[in-house]
Amino acid sequence: MIGKMKIAVFASGSGSNFAAIEEACRNGELNAEIVLMVTNKPEAYVVERAEQAGIPVAAFRPKDFDSKDTYEEAILGALRAAEAEWLVLAGYMRLVGQPLLTAYPSRIVNIHPSLLPSFPGKDAIEQAVEHGVKVTGVTVHLVDEGMDTGPILAQRAVDVVDGDVDKTAEAIHAVEHDLYKETLNSLFSR
Ligand code: GRF
Repeated sequence: MIGKMKIAVFASGSGSNFAAIEEACRNGELNAEIVLMVTNKPEAYVVERAEQAGIPVAAFRPKDFDSKDTYEEAILGALRAAEAEWLVLAGYMRLVGQPLLTAYPSRIVNIHPSLLPSFPGKDAIEQAVEHGVKVTGVTVHLVDEGMDTGPILAQRAVDVVDGDVDKTAEAIHAVEHDLYKETLNSLFSR
């Protein structure tokens, strides 16, 4: 049997995807181990979740650095020390720059709450509801230098519920948690 993939999860918010991945690693549904949780927001709820799960946290505030490159180089130091092999973005609200892209070529994956290329960027669920689409969804893709533009690995459609952002977000999050797990499993068993 192949050993567990060492992953670092990047998150800036509530961390429900982090929690789903952490649980899947713990119960053996995902053949991976979270060696680090990286955040740009030390006050985010995901930090509490990581601490409760006993996952090491690397929290760096971009404004404490003189450039994006030095910020990412600090992250890289922590990733190397933790021996992370893949970077898994789960609500990480920053564009990934060259230091990380160069160190992890085609080994950074992101989840986005729309059927890309529709509704990239922030507030994708709000954008979809506002636009009046009846079906939106979830995309898992490899990360490149663009905003939600890298090669698509998996997608799943989700109906917009009653034209309502909160109800649709709930349906999307449930699908995200399953789709991320499945997609990571197939990536790691290639
Ligand atoms: C998810 O909808 C994800 O697709 C997007 O950010 C959100 C993060 O949610 N990139 P959570 O923090 O995992 O609950």
